[in-house]
Amino acid sequence: MIKFSILFNSLILLLIRNIINKEDPSTFSNYFQIKQKHLDANFYLDFDKSIIKAKVKLYFDALLDGELIILDSKALKINSIIDPDTGDELKYEYDNKFSLRTLGTPLKIFKEYNKGDYISIVMNYETTKEGGGAQWLKPEMTEGRKHPFMFTQLESILCRELIPIQDTPNAKLTVSIGITVKKPLKALYSGIYQNNIDNGDTISYFYEQKIPAPSYLIAIAAGNIEERKISDRVKVYAEPEIVDKAYEEFSDSDKFVEIGETYTIPYEWGQYNILVLPKSFPYGGMENPTLTFVTPSILAGDKSLVNVIAHEISHSWSGNLVTMSSWKDFWLNEGFTVFLERKIIELLVDEDTSKLKSIFGEKGMINAINNMGSSKTASSLNPFIIGKHPDDIFSEVPYEKGYNFLYRTQTIINKNAGDDYFKLILRSYFDKYKYQAINNSKWKEHLNEKIKEKFKDKSDEIIKEIDYDYWVYTPGIPKYKNDFNNSHIIDADKYVKEFFDGNYNESFKDTFVKWGTDKKLYYLLQIHTNEKGTQLTDKGFKFLGETLNLTKAYNSEITNEFFSIMLDNKKLDYKNDLINFLEKYGRMKFLRPLYRGWGSIDKSGAYACFEKNKNWYHPIAVRLIEMDFKKLN
Ligand code: BES
Ligand code: ZN
Repeated sequence: MIKFSILFNSLILLLIRNIINKEDPSTFSNYFQIKQKHLDANFYLDFDKSIIKAKVKLYFDALLDGELIILDSKALKINSIIDPDTGDELKYEYDNKFSLRTLGTPLKIFKEYNKGDYISIVMNYETTKEGGGAQWLKPEMTEGRKHPFMFTQLESILCRELIPIQDTPNAKLTVSIGITVKKPLKALYSGIYQNNIDNGDTISYFYEQKIPAPSYLIAIAAGNIEERKISDRVKVYAEPEIVDKAYEEFSDSDKFVEIGETYTIPYEWGQYNILVLPKSFPYGGMENPTLTFVTPSILAGDKSLVNVIAHEISHSWSGNLVTMSSWKDFWLNEGFTVFLERKIIELLVDEDTSKLKSIFGEKGMINAINNMGSSKTASSLNPFIIGKHPDDIFSEVPYEKGYNFLYRTQTIINKNAGDDYFKLILRSYFDKYKYQAINNSKWKEHLNEKIKEKFKDKSDEIIKEIDYDYWVYTPGIPKYKNDFNNSHIIDADKYVKEFFDGNYNESFKDTFVKWGTDKKLYYLLQIHTNEKGTQLTDKGFKFLGETLNLTKAYNSEITNEFFSIMLDNKKLDYKNDLINFLEKYGRMKFLRPLYRGWGSIDKSGAYACFEKNKNWYHPIAVRLIEMDFKKLN
């Protein structure tokens, strides 16, 4: 009861505060009063204790008069906070009445300032094992099994578990950082490398990020890391055991950047590097500026999963230059990025391939909406997020509903313009809003302005056809459908029909192996979604497992799709292979649906497997999978 009322009070206070500061409800900070601008950080990575010992100096612009700096924090141990101008210690306290499991605890620092001041504070602190911002891997959890590894994952709101900070995309900041590690480990940062200093047993690496970026894009990693140069702009980093494989897989990345910048505006971040993380990395990719993090599960050996790279590169414009101002507008980051990702594929490969991927996306969106219930605000592009952890409502909706909205807008505009006017609208959008954090009404405003400029009298009609508010505010599966028909599906559909007709032809295997990954995935997805509702027979299922040999992991996406078919049809025929797959990658895109599927057939069996692997799964994955299990009855 007491617990309940504390939670209730926190929520009420949060609601009130949210009315006052308007933009981002996921931060406790008073960024609208005093706004951070720059961070100077010195990190010592203590691998023995799995913590960071940190000294940071945070600089602010005072936008109003005040006597308090409120920062976000969670699971941090503050040792002292100092006013560098006087050398005096500043008084500070944790504001526990606001404390929430989801958002952490506000850190109140008592310091007076006047509007227009540029001030700084110095904080000495340590991270703790309770914090989830960084994952510390024992040598056994790495590819090489000889050296430890650590990496951060700060999107969505985990920066506050690493640094006391204004953990909101509204307070973009530049960063200078020194990271010290024991030799022979190497430390990387999401910024431009400057130099290193050899201190004997340890070595310090220095980096700068001069473009103001949101706190969730701060990223560090350290381990036994080697590099391979792809071009003057692009490098690949990975453990020595896989670095050559990664180099081959990602050798086209410079071209992706080039296409991205010719379609949008110039690439401003200088370098574009990719770091392949150990298998516990919980996402496919993460767009840390100058240093994309990726899962090793995309090292397919045939470049068939490099759309993840195209996606993360695309964030260099949508997300990293122009950033959503709160997690409510997450689709501004992800929907635009999927649009650019598929545009890169369209320009580099062909339009049909891009459309084929759009079909996967659409199926994913429909599935996500059906799973959560089509009345949930999370199935709209304007979810309710107050008091929630943004990770808890993560789904494909902002990605694919956002994408479908933009794709349809493009179709309508270009049809009326007779040329690619939509591209010009996007370019001017990136130019106008770069370095800023904006909400979706800024995009609406910009779009409508550009439509009026070009189409004059006809613009009202076009704006109506686009139906902006419908797309953004209405939950559920969109009533508008895009046409993604393409040449690849016609051929594959023939074989899908054969499958459901019960013709399991041995010789199909020879055809199947020659198909590209996307076509194979399409075939499996059709069988999976099974729109005609035909029973998946044991014989049919064995055909997939044995004849097509899909039980062994040779391409992570295909294997994942195969096991999804198995579990959604309440089968557990290849349980051992499933376990092998669940032990191979800690990527949530695979783990969460597979555990959910297995759990709905045999909860204790599935949970036992999860328990066994939870020591190396990422803390974010562990938390969310636990949550998924709780929802199973
Ligand atoms: N920014 C996301 C990853 C993310 C989202 C991390 C929300 C934390 C919270 C990244 O750009 C992403 O979308 N990755 C996808 C790639 C895919 C859409 C090609 C992934 O991880 O699967
Ligand atoms: Zn993304």
